[in-house]
Amino acid sequence: MSPPPLAAYPALRLRRLRQADWIRRMVRESVLTPADLIWSMVVHEGDGEVPVASMPGVSRLSVKECAKAAVEARKLGIPAIAIFPHIDGSKKDATGSRAADPNGVIANAVKAMKDAAPEVGIMCDVALDPFTDHGHDGVIENGKILNDPTIERLVEQGLIQAQAGCDILAPSDMMDGRCAALRTALEGAGLQDTMIMSYAAKFASAFYGPYRDAIGSGKLGTGGAPADKKTYQMDSANTEEALREVALDIAEGADMVMVKPGMPYLDIVSRVVETFQMPTFAFQVSGEYAMIMAAAQNGWIDEERAILESLGAFKRAGAAGVITYFAPRAAKMLGA
Ligand code: PBG
Repeated sequence: MSPPPLAAYPALRLRRLRQADWIRRMVRESVLTPADLIWSMVVHEGDGEVPVASMPGVSRLSVKECAKAAVEARKLGIPAIAIFPHIDGSKKDATGSRAADPNGVIANAVKAMKDAAPEVGIMCDVALDPFTDHGHDGVIENGKILNDPTIERLVEQGLIQAQAGCDILAPSDMMDGRCAALRTALEGAGLQDTMIMSYAAKFASAFYGPYRDAIGSGKLGTGGAPADKKTYQMDSANTEEALREVALDIAEGADMVMVKPGMPYLDIVSRVVETFQMPTFAFQVSGEYAMIMAAAQNGWIDEERAILESLGAFKRAGAAGVITYFAPRAAKMLGA
């Protein structure tokens, strides 16, 4: 009788490589470390911390506290922090004038953080929505979000951020042509070392809900403005278009690209990595954070395991890293 073929059950048993922690670690295909995390953080103009109701565990931080957080990031081995502004509703207007304020909360936070921990990278969102009273990312005329006039404002905003010491500009507005305009302006201003991580494939998503709460933007659709961002952010059904968006931003001078939201779009992350071999990041957005925390607080899932599993999934998909509100907690769990 001939021996059974070796490459089949019962000789072949894949569970053999799962029988103990040491062997699971030995054959693990992707690894999450603190260096994979970009800490997503909200800064406000006042003093102290203000908890964000829809994001348990996340607070808006003062400029001073952001500086302290930068020191903590350094200690935890987190390479970079992405900051988002909350300004008082009374300071918002139709064109988002405060976006390019050289003494605004973002410029102040960047300076304070770079002073406190110059070794930590700082990334700033280039978009008008935290500063507009209608909550859209651009300038509106007759109910339409105007592309080119918005880009002019974004360039002013980006230059202020870069001049304050921001290392990475992250345009999240989805206007056409914004990366080229920013890159040209940076070169013109002698800021050739400032990096661009574009929100290249950013989808119109329900998962940004808690973020609006965090930065204090009201409900979309007031005063004749559109009730959603679908004329500029992508249709969630599209993959080929996402690849075109990424290709364009790379051609326009983006150094790194991003897919957003994160977990519902892992297929896009994987396609982008495979297609472009660019440093590709994913944003685990506010709604993803809120879902994990809400389920955990109800006792329906194990919080710490869910956090690490969700972040590890981005590495498995090929991402270079993840922008996440869980960064400090995850770094601690990872034993930094
Ligand atoms: C602004 C911006 C948004 C987010 C980051 N930058 C919201 C939006 O586009 O509506 C979402 C972040 C999050 O949900 O955590 N353009």
